[in-house]
Parts: sequence; C-alpha cells; structure tokens
Amino acid sequence: MMKSLRIRSFEEYKEKYALSVENPETFWGEIAENFTWKEKWDQVLDWNFDEPKINWFEGAKLNITENVLDRHLEKRGNKLALIWEPNDPKQRFIRYTYRELHELVCQFANVLKKKGVVKGDRVCIYLPMIPELTIAMLACARIGAVHSVIFAGFSANAIADRVNDAQAKLVITADGLNRGAKQIPLKRVVDEALESCPSVKEVIVYDSLAWMPNMVANRDSWWHELVDNESKVCEAEVMDAEDMLFILYTSGSTGNPKGVVHTCGGYMVYTAYTFQNVYQCDESDVYWSSADIGWITGHSYTVYGPLLTGATVLMFEGVPTFPDPGRFWQVIDKHSVNQFLTAPTALRSLMAHGEDHVLSYSLDSLKLLGTVGEPINDEAWKWYHLHVGKEKCAIVDNWWQTETGGIMISGLGNISPMKPTYAGFPLPGVQPVLLNQEGEEIQEADVEGYLCMKFPWPGMLRTTYGDHERCKATYFSQYKGYYFSGDGAKRDKNGMYRIIGRIDDVINVSGHRFGTAEIENAINTNSKVIESAVVGFPHPVKGQSIYAFVVCEKLPEDPIQARGAIVESVVSQIGKIALPEKIQFVTGLPKTRSGKIMRRILRKIAEGDISNLGDTSTLLDPLIVDEIVESAL
Ligand code: WT7
Repeated sequence: MMKSLRIRSFEEYKEKYALSVENPETFWGEIAENFTWKEKWDQVLDWNFDEPKINWFEGAKLNITENVLDRHLEKRGNKLALIWEPNDPKQRFIRYTYRELHELVCQFANVLKKKGVVKGDRVCIYLPMIPELTIAMLACARIGAVHSVIFAGFSANAIADRVNDAQAKLVITADGLNRGAKQIPLKRVVDEALESCPSVKEVIVYDSLAWMPNMVANRDSWWHELVDNESKVCEAEVMDAEDMLFILYTSGSTGNPKGVVHTCGGYMVYTAYTFQNVYQCDESDVYWSSADIGWITGHSYTVYGPLLTGATVLMFEGVPTFPDPGRFWQVIDKHSVNQFLTAPTALRSLMAHGEDHVLSYSLDSLKLLGTVGEPINDEAWKWYHLHVGKEKCAIVDNWWQTETGGIMISGLGNISPMKPTYAGFPLPGVQPVLLNQEGEEIQEADVEGYLCMKFPWPGMLRTTYGDHERCKATYFSQYKGYYFSGDGAKRDKNGMYRIIGRIDDVINVSGHRFGTAEIENAINTNSKVIESAVVGFPHPVKGQSIYAFVVCEKLPEDPIQARGAIVESVVSQIGKIALPEKIQFVTGLPKTRSGKIMRRILRKIAEGDISNLGDTSTLLDPLIVDEIVESAL
C-alpha cells in the first residue's frame, strides 16, 4: 500500500487536517508524489469558483492505468487484483492477478484502437457487473478515450439521451445480465437506443449468457472474436492531468441528467487517497463494495481507488437476496472479505428478513464496515454494527457525491470517533461549511444549514459535458465563492457532520438519484397527461419513494389502466428503477400566481402529514389543496 498516504491515528488526522487548510498545495503536492507521473506538474492548483476553473497538477503528464496496473507489476504482479463472484453461487468465481488484469486491459485497449477509437473519443459502456466492465473502462483510459458508463437498468431512451449528449462513437455491451432469479436483455435495449444515435459506428458485444442476440452487419462485433490473437501489450497514451477521464451522467433538480466530467490527475490522486484512508486496507486484505459500477461509488471504490492502491477487490454480479437474504454474508465468508461497503437501503431490506440469515455466518474476517448513498437511520446502523460487525468493526459513513469524485466526510478506518447517523469529520483537504438562507457561514453547533465547500479538492467535477454554464449555474451560483452540494446538514459541537438529505428537487430512491423534473418529463410523454408533479416521500426500505400527482384532460375512468400507462411511460423513458410507487390523478396542482408548483404542500400530502400545510393563501386556487388531500393515496 502507499504508506505515506495513510493516516494512522486521530492525532495525525488533526495535524494533517490543519496542514491541509494552512497550505493545501503542500498537502496535495506531497500526496501526489506517491504516483507515477510521466512529467511532474508546474503548479499544484490554479482555481476560481466563479467561472469555475479548477486546474490540479497543471502541466503534469500521466496515464492512470499505469498507476492502476503497471506500477504494481513488480511487487504485486501475482497478487489478486480482482475476485469476481457470480450471481449464481453454484457458478465458478473468477480471479485475476494484477498481471492478468494488466494483460486483459492492454489486449482490449488494442481492440479499441483497431476500431479507430482515439484519445478524446467517447465510449459508452452498458454492461453487467462482470470483470469485462472493469476491463473496458481501464482499456478506454489506457488509450485516452473517455468512458461513459450507463447503469444497466436504464431504458433505451435513457441510453440514447446519454449517448447523444456525449456523441459517443462506440458502445460496449453484452447479450444480457443475471440479476437474482431474473435475466435481463441488454443488447436488445442497446439496439433500440441506437436507432436514434447516429454518432455510434461500432458496437462490441460480450457474450455473457450465450443468448445469440441479433448482430447488426458492419456495426456489431463479438468481444471474444476481437480479443483473439490481439497483443497483450499496449503502450499507455500520455495524458495531461486535466484531460478528461470519464463522464458519468447524474440527475439534478432541473432538466435532463447532466454529464459530470472527471479528469485524469486529480481524480487519480483523490480516489486513491480517500480509499487508502477511509478503508485502511492492509496488503493481504480483501475489500468489497456492493455498489454497481454504473454509479460513482463503483467507479471510485470498485475500480479506481482500490486498484490504484494495489488492493484486492471483490466484485459481485448478484443481489443481496438471491438465492436467499444471506447472500452478502455468505460471500463475505467465502472470500474472507475484510472491508465491506454497502448502502443503508440494502441493510434495511435485509433487516426485514430477520437476523437468522446473518447469524448463520461467522463474518470473522470483517475488520471494517462502510455505508454510503443516503443517510443511515439509527436502527439500521445498530443492526449493521451488532449483527454484521459483531460490535468489533467500526462503521465508516461515507458522504460524497458523483460530483465530488470521492469521499468528502467520513470516519477513517477505526481511528476516528464514531457517532451513529453522523458521517463524521471532513477528510484532510476538504473544507466544508454550512450556510444559512442568506449565504452566511453558520458557526454555532447543531444548526441545520446548506452544505457547501469553500475550497477545491482534486476529485471535484470540472464541468458538465458540453455545457459549462450549467455546471456554473448548478453548483457555483447559489452562493458565490462556494461549491453547493444540494444537501442540508448539521454539525455538532465537536465538528462532526450529520447529513439530513437533499434540499433541492432531487429524490434518493434506494441510493439512486432522480430529479423530479426528469420523472415529470417522462410522465408527461403520455399523450393523456397535461402536467404532473413528482415528490419524494419517506419509505421504510428505500429511504425515499416516488409520489406522482398527475393531471389528465379529465379524471381517468379506469385509473388502474391509466396508472399502467404512466408506469409504461416512466419505464420506457428512464427505466424500472424510477417507477413512482404512488400515482394520484388530480384535476389541478397547487400553484402560486406566478405558476410555480408548491411542492412543499405536495410533499406534506405525500408524507400523510396534512395537519400543517402552511400558508395556502398565495395559491392561484387554494381549493385544489382540499381536493388533493381528499383523494390522497
Ligand atoms: C447524494 C449523492 C456518494 C456516492 C453514492 C451516491 C446522498 C450520499 C451519503 C451519506 C447521507 C448521502 C446525498 C448526496 N448521500 N452519501 N453517507 N449520508 N447522504 O452518489 O448519486 O451522486 O448522490 O447522495 O444526498 O448529495 P450520488
């Protein structure tokens, strides 16, 4: 592991934190010394949050895959890099050493080159949770192509939007995927998406399930045929520190999902540094994050962070409840996992199945537990600590975002103080503040405010693809001079942060992020719908669930059929993951005289809390509220 990256005590944490604020450039410059650069930087940092312009390690040259793979070969060539556990426990698992992974990545990088992919081209990846997903991402990075991974639960329309926004040249997919007892087609969905994606010239298909999908002539080719006889040596493209590494689309409060852009140098330094310190892996440890690589957690903490530090990573194809709700724990025992990261929603769904499933496994190997994606409730925290960690493992609660690239606020291994439901202290190098409505920094303890950052960190987003203004408007304009996260938080008297949740129109369903506008747009594609308003409401397992208020030309005579049609719209526009749990037909929405929907009122109704709907006198039609309350679901 990279020794000089690792903080080993809470005292040292405090010293490093102070240094990182006093002299950020010295702090990050020293950390960056731990990596292989083809050329060093001229300047550690050049920034302003107005444009915004964020340049880390300007002038430096590198290839991230040499840091992920090549530089480990000498000492860790025969060490396991990747352990892949399939969906079906009866199927054989796969293990690759660093040397093997290096060869596979280089080989596939050569395939991409032969297909005409060059530095800067965008490649879209729509694959199951199989090793080829990691290989494909790293192969892109090897040749300087920009990967854009799309979670394999998104619909054809959602793929098309992302492919077109990025103007991707090539798509990598598979015939289908296994998820629990289900098998889901992927190639068919890609085929449908590509009907409206003129930029895509080539599709590479991995044969995962032997399904023999339709192959389009002069466009589609088989992964296995392309790699056959391809060289396992591929020189790494020289990249500037600020060249793009990848785009990952994420939802915001307005419009379509935006392409968050991360660059090579800063993202590398930040994911390795945060992984090393938060997970504190020893050389022989096995680390596992259950998050899908289609989301940022998988990018930063299944692919880049762990491999950059030379760790052994487990990757799991399946789901927590298949073949039974003991699967996570069985996998931990089977592969002697030492550090395990999952989401509160997964814990809550397993809790609902009772303790027996977890009590049948020893879980002796575990040293550290992580939680990420949404606030963890007290009950789930305690269950995790007692039944999974057997009260001997610390829990690190990782707060961060797609935009931050890596963990921002969290415990570090078992060295920081723990407080259930608190994410904890900021990592050294991270400077959070809480702002009030007026944009002033809150100094007092236990007061809720808007969580913002007042100084850059290497892993932060640089822009939103193709639309820098949008990046500025979304993150840097709310409060001048600050990065605005969209979350509300509190800080206790010791300086520990507790995340309350989104304060914008973003809904977090089972750790997946959706914008209300995005779901409304999907609902509104239904020809019978005039308009709709979507809000989140608390859900015992998913954290939040989606409630849609829908206005049609007239109230539907057959609401079941009408709901089915709306469900269909959402499935086809976004995917099953964004399905509204409740759909209520109404004759109008509560709007202000200027036409703004008062979501605050709808949120209360969705929560079932109608005792205090607040002031409705400014509404265009206050009576509509009574109607909605009466027919609430
Ligand atoms: C949003 C970011 C971070 C990777 C996975 C989600 C919420 C994330 C926590 C946490 C409370 C959390 C926030 C954040 N969130 N982690 N530990 N405690 N809330 O990434 O899809 O970009 O979502 O997830 O609301 O803004 P994402």
